[in-house]
Amino acid sequence: MLDALNQIESKGLAELAAVADADALEAWRITYVGPKGKLKGAMGGMKNISKEDKPAVGKRANEVKNTLESAFKAKKDGLAGGGTEGGASGQYIDVTEPGLVSSSNVGRRHIITRVRDELVDVFARMGFEVAHGPELEDEEHNFIKLNIPPEHPARDPIDNFYIDDPESVRPRMLRSQTSTVQIRVMEQMQAEGREPPVKIVSPGRVYRPDTVDATHSFMFHQIEGLWIDRDVSMVDLKSTLLHFARAYFGEGADIRLRPSFFPFTEPSAEFDMKIALRPGDEPSWIELGGCGMVDPNVLEGCGIDPEEWTGFAFGFGIERLAMGKYGIPDIRMLFENDIRFLERL
Ligand code: DAH
Repeated sequence: MLDALNQIESKGLAELAAVADADALEAWRITYVGPKGKLKGAMGGMKNISKEDKPAVGKRANEVKNTLESAFKAKKDGLAGGGTEGGASGQYIDVTEPGLVSSSNVGRRHIITRVRDELVDVFARMGFEVAHGPELEDEEHNFIKLNIPPEHPARDPIDNFYIDDPESVRPRMLRSQTSTVQIRVMEQMQAEGREPPVKIVSPGRVYRPDTVDATHSFMFHQIEGLWIDRDVSMVDLKSTLLHFARAYFGEGADIRLRPSFFPFTEPSAEFDMKIALRPGDEPSWIELGGCGMVDPNVLEGCGIDPEEWTGFAFGFGIERLAMGKYGIPDIRMLFENDIRFLERL
């Protein structure tokens, strides 16, 4: 009896190893472990076994059954998986297929980042390069070289977050305008012995001591422009802004300049754009920012001869455009990072 079981086990495993498809596997199952198979047949002989031998034979019969059944299961899985057993039928997994993507978890760029990139794109098409400056600035770049000496009243609304830095000779602060980058760019040219022309835009974060409400924040974004060359005039400034407005908001856009004052430009103006912020809206005048011809004093301070070169500059806020374009009623919503709100933009 034990011999018969051993034989069923070794023959069964050998034949199973040779099985190559689902049909052969099924035939093997019927022959060996099926209800009328060899194992059942051998176990049918148990009744002829003596009482003393029964436990040992029964134990061996169970072992053989378990061995064959688990070998059968492994073979079946192997064929189904198209694995090393090399089955010709059944399912298989294509490991080169892309995975499933859950649309609810796909991220996207923040709305301010998107609008910033759109603006930069338009200016880039008009020949402006992108320049960057640090957010942690010093008094020299945020004020002095922009023609805003200590005690100048223009400091008041933008005099803000100072940083205690014993290493720094000049007081350090978070910048309150991207106009600092005008100075940084001109200084860089001076250091490298480069002359104008220079034509840059610079987007970035600025910080102000403003009380937070629906339209004000202590932190927001601006984009700055600077173009210095021979014979650059107010005409170039106005046509650049108009060109920008039409490229970004469509052919119906218009601009207007209103006389104003900024210490680093002379003459200075504020500019408005007549634009339909959202498709279908009637165009209306929106106050956007400041601009003007770069003050000769500022050019001179950065080693550029104002007798030879002239330039214009402009700067405006990015949030106002983004809020208008996307119908966002409160600036705070842009920075609260509520995913339910951001997902809808
Ligand atoms: N920096 C000014 C502000 O923050 C905006 C500005 C005005 C930028 C005139 C300029 C400019 O480049 O020429 O309000």
